Amino acid sequence: MPVRGDADAVGYARLIEDRRVHGSLYTDHQVFVDEIDRIFRRGWIFVGHESEIPKTGDWVTRRLGGEPVIMLRAAEGGVHVLANRCAHRGTLLCWQDRGSGRKSFQCSYHGWVFGLDGKLRSLPGRSGFERPAGALDLARPGQVDAYRGFVFANQSGDAGPLEDHLGPGGRMLIDRAVEVSPVGRLALGAGWIGQRVASNWKMWPESDNDGYHLAIAHASLQKAVPGTQYEAALFSPELDNTSQARDHGRGHVELELRCGYDRELAWLGTTRDKVRDYAAALERAYGKEAADRILWDGPPHALIFPNLFLGEMNLAVIEPVGPGETIHYHTPLLLDGVDAAFNDRVLRQSEAAMGPASFFLPDDAVIAERMQQGLQVGRGSADGWIDLSRGAGRERCDAMGRVGHVSDETTNRGFWRHYRSVMTARA
Ligand code: FES
Ligand SMILES: [Fe+2]
Repeated sequence: MPVRGDADAVGYARLIEDRRVHGSLYTDHQVFVDEIDRIFRRGWIFVGHESEIPKTGDWVTRRLGGEPVIMLRAAEGGVHVLANRCAHRGTLLCWQDRGSGRKSFQCSYHGWVFGLDGKLRSLPGRSGFERPAGALDLARPGQVDAYRGFVFANQSGDAGPLEDHLGPGGRMLIDRAVEVSPVGRLALGAGWIGQRVASNWKMWPESDNDGYHLAIAHASLQKAVPGTQYEAALFSPELDNTSQARDHGRGHVELELRCGYDRELAWLGTTRDKVRDYAAALERAYGKEAADRILWDGPPHALIFPNLFLGEMNLAVIEPVGPGETIHYHTPLLLDGVDAAFNDRVLRQSEAAMGPASFFLPDDAVIAERMQQGLQVGRGSADGWIDLSRGAGRERCDAMGRVGHVSDETTNRGFWRHYRSVMTARA
């Protein structure tokens, strides 16, 4: 565990400038230890979505601040996040990704049984124990809260209100993902594909929101599938392109592709006549003007700091494992209130973008691993700096925050600005 008050030992304020950061921040072991404490234990972290556990006794396993947790649907209908660690000797209670129909969790070692509320229900040979019953229950994170079905938690309990962490920018981004459903509900029950990558976790929020690399690192997409939504929004010549890079504050950043789309439903690779029922359902739910806007905009392409990527028709989650090891999970953004054919279309879109043989994730994984190899530089190395200056001189502010051209590093600077404030304030 890190020693509190050791911020100056690393010197984050010195290693993170407005237009460049030091490469050792991706590779230094002490930096990783500090991040797990200051960002992943003491800050709000996305854990899962309520739609993954629709019925009492449904559960999924996750990691929170490096520790294993269970997110489950309790008997009274609420969502609990519990330590996935037996209160006796620490054995993992659930070792699979998910399951259903549980009334309790029984430890496989000595047979202690815990209810869906985490309370110890029974144990073999109780008479030998002297501790009060409450001390034998499963541990819980310090804070758990949800916004529109997105469940967040933190281990420390002193992260402040979730509403403050999300801010107006984070809430607006989640609202835009949810309103793509005509009933305002996502159905994220397809499961997650996890890919282990030999890179630092920060390369993912950065590259997911980097509009500069698309035409180079993902050139095969443009060649193989001309006419995608990215053609106008990302691949078109710089000065023709009206898409934007946004910093919404608090580390939440966005590639705002909607202003660069050249047609409605570009984000789903289809046209209104092919999804008439969907368009009509949106209109019934939200009115014609809002429905027309949603059909044009689609869901956002944005990071909710630090670990949730709203990647259009995918959701992705980053799990840091070590300074040079990360697991990237993704699931399709399936919707409630649409027919099966519509969700099949979403699934195909998801496979094409982030599946193991897709157009984005394999490219990004290779680049992230090459970056990791290139950034093996010591904290004191004078030439180990990464340039993040693109577009800094033409960035401007509007009512939503800082905004730049989609290919500018406005998003990366926004990520690092918040990172620096967290890493220095929580020292
Ligand atoms: S470790 Fe779980 S019952 Fe002993
Ligand atoms: Fe990419």
